[in-house]
Amino acid sequence: MSSRLVVDDLTVAFDSGGYVIKPLDGLSFSAEDGELVVLLGPSGCGKTTLLSCLAGLLTPTEGRIQFGPTVVNELRGPVLSEYRRQTVGVVFQAFNLIASLTARGNVVVPMRLAGIPRARARDRATELLGLVGLGERGHHRPAQLSGGQQQRVAIARALVHDPPLILADEPTAHLDHIQVEGILRLMRDLASPGRIIVVSTHDDRVSQLADRVIELAPHFSDADRQPEEVHLADGEILFRQGERGELIFHVESGLLEVYRELADGGEEVLAQVKPGNYVGELGPILNLPRSASVRAMGEAFVIGYTVRAFRKEHPHHLADQIAT
Ligand SMILES: Nc1ncnc2c1ncn2[C@@H]1O[C@H](COP(=O)(O)OP(=O)(O)OP(=O)(O)O)[C@@H](O)[C@H]1O
Ligand SMILES: [Mg+2]
Repeated sequence: MSSRLVVDDLTVAFDSGGYVIKPLDGLSFSAEDGELVVLLGPSGCGKTTLLSCLAGLLTPTEGRIQFGPTVVNELRGPVLSEYRRQTVGVVFQAFNLIASLTARGNVVVPMRLAGIPRARARDRATELLGLVGLGERGHHRPAQLSGGQQQRVAIARALVHDPPLILADEPTAHLDHIQVEGILRLMRDLASPGRIIVVSTHDDRVSQLADRVIELAPHFSDADRQPEEVHLADGEILFRQGERGELIFHVESGLLEVYRELADGGEEVLAQVKPGNYVGELGPILNLPRSASVRAMGEAFVIGYTVRAFRKEHPHHLADQIAT
């Protein structure tokens, strides 16, 4: 069966601590059967987000994904599980192999889980390891294999059900030059009738092998993102504990309350923040989730700045804070 992939007006919005991030905003493209598609773009531009949507792991906010006759974004329940298992093969940047199993064991596992008899699963694993150039290495454990060889095992594993859609998220990120070439050539060979391969990368050398390059532009770049004005009603939450957020807020007017949500459902007020002060610096600067929640006491007005904008104004801020 040959299938086209059609992505139409795809939008994914994440609510991230009081403002919305849209890594994908109205993205459309299509790919033909047999093609190698490269998703190209810098960190944070939405590559993993798009692959997650294609894999049926994330439901887009808006838009449509169609693979062959299947409208992927409309799948639910058992049909969705079936799609994930049978239609899609996923290869991760970090290989995700089971360390205690041999290369062949790693390829056998998903087949055993799918109820394929042991002997048949072993034969198929041997065949697939041969296909990815590891015919002699089936009995080695991941630790005895190079990064490139481990990634080949992961690719063989993604192929067990012969899925017509292979998704690889930066499969070459942890590999050296020579290994990268080998993996790319393998991807190139695997892109053949009956299969579409989508590979994400921020390395534009990879795109030279592609039949099609989808460039994902960052929706906003931190450098030119404008400060964001946020008006809060009484009691309105600016951001919540545990969320990831990219903005640091300066209180212009009103009063904010910083509080921690406790495991027993209660809360503990940590501080009140007055106009002229900042709130929420640590999470974005240290790239950690918010350690507390913040809400308005009465109406309040704040302006959110990116870490970059904030650093420019206050180069020593974090050092000051840690020292005190
Ligand atoms: N579950 C989530 N909740 C909130 N924001 C998210 C979530 N997942 C991703 N994001 C944000 O969406 C944007 C795109 O993320 P994504 O992981 O798709 O980027 P990427 O292109 O894969 O980056 P990288 O090259 O670093 O892997 C980022 O700003 C990220 O912080
Ligand atoms: Mg990613």
